[in-house]
Amino acid sequence: MIRVAVLASGSGTNLQAMLDAADTGMLIHGSVVLVVSDKGEAPALNRAKLRGIPAVALDKKQLKTARFEAALLDLLVAYQIDLVVLAGFLTILSGTVVRQYPERIINIHPSLIPSFCGKGYYGRRVHEAALARGVKLSGATVHLVSEEADAGPILAQRSLEVLDGDTPESLAKRILETIEWKLLPETVEHYCQILEQRMDLKTALQAQRYPGRGIICGLNDEGKSIVAYFITARSEHSKNRRLVADSGTVRTKAIDEHLVKDPSLIIYRAMDIYEKQLVVSNGDQSDTILSYLAEGKGMEEALESRTYEPDAPNYTSRISGLVDLPGGGAYHLSILRRKKGECERALFPYSQPRKGEGHLIHTYNGDGDPLPPFTGKPKQVVLKGSGAEIAKQIWENLDEAYRVALCVRETNLSVGSFELFLINAEKGR
Ligand code: GAR
Repeated sequence: MIRVAVLASGSGTNLQAMLDAADTGMLIHGSVVLVVSDKGEAPALNRAKLRGIPAVALDKKQLKTARFEAALLDLLVAYQIDLVVLAGFLTILSGTVVRQYPERIINIHPSLIPSFCGKGYYGRRVHEAALARGVKLSGATVHLVSEEADAGPILAQRSLEVLDGDTPESLAKRILETIEWKLLPETVEHYCQILEQRMDLKTALQAQRYPGRGIICGLNDEGKSIVAYFITARSEHSKNRRLVADSGTVRTKAIDEHLVKDPSLIIYRAMDIYEKQLVVSNGDQSDTILSYLAEGKGMEEALESRTYEPDAPNYTSRISGLVDLPGGGAYHLSILRRKKGECERALFPYSQPRKGEGHLIHTYNGDGDPLPPFTGKPKQVVLKGSGAEIAKQIWENLDEAYRVALCVRETNLSVGSFELFLINAEKGR
């Protein structure tokens, strides 16, 4: 369930529409858990109170912008808000707030953006300007909030005809009642569904019964860098492994050396560091990347010299990650995969990682013979809890019949200290 905060300045009928949508079962993936107003007297606050929803007034008349925004951020954190909905909220939020909630703030605006929007266009003024221009259509837009007012990506838009004799009031009322009250709850529901899908580590890991080997990089909710590497395997040869750590270096090791026919694709350095650059991979391309780093070159260049694995008919993808620990845990994920007989090289940069979020990439797109390679982009996942807790979440969501080994490294970026959490199935067998 996505925890939603609604920010409203006025009567709050859009807030009411969301609350009603929750009652009728139309809004089910999000729940309004907090209402904030920038005006002490906003009727929107009463609508919340009537439902027993915490309602807080941060009066702009009494608070300077910086204090208002600091108080707002404190509230959003305290209520563990996932999504902020501006429903008739007339204060423009600065980058200080917007940057903390990228793609997590939605606004509704009573015009067809990009017309009649931006600074100064709010409430009645929007409709006055539309009528003055003589437009024949107007409507409402729901969009993501970026640092520029009303300029973020559009999520939904609906139009209606402007009638002869319309006044700003009549046009505002028709847009509000026939469009906004439906469009806002519908869009919030849809967006909450998207957020929920990308948020759930369990859903992401269970999407395929057999993901093969997998890498997760990101930041947990405390802002620590999390790097996970897991092995699931089908064949006995591939299952004959565990992960072992020697300070910061993590390797695969055979459980029974006698059973190893060919170590080249199963025994390798899975995680290591070169000058605070953390490398994680599912094969000996980690050696290639680390040696290129030592020569002052990058991961992309290193991987130009490599291709997917030669294990026909599966041609297992090579997946790799590089984490810049001094750079706030910014990371790149890479996959070398077979596509129409060629090697496709995809590199995914995440230069501004967000607290509580990471990305998962794995080698296979589920079970099959031959095994299909992972397609598309890495999946966005939620990383909540300590490294130990995340290790538990990952392990418990890997199929018991296939899971072999897992390593999670948690790095405290401010001091550089780290902890490794290893789980090997071998103990359970
Ligand atoms: C709505 O029409 C909304 O689109 C508009 O304020 C009204 C609030 O009504 N928002 C803006 O103009 C934002 N730029 P409500 O308080 O009854 O929901």
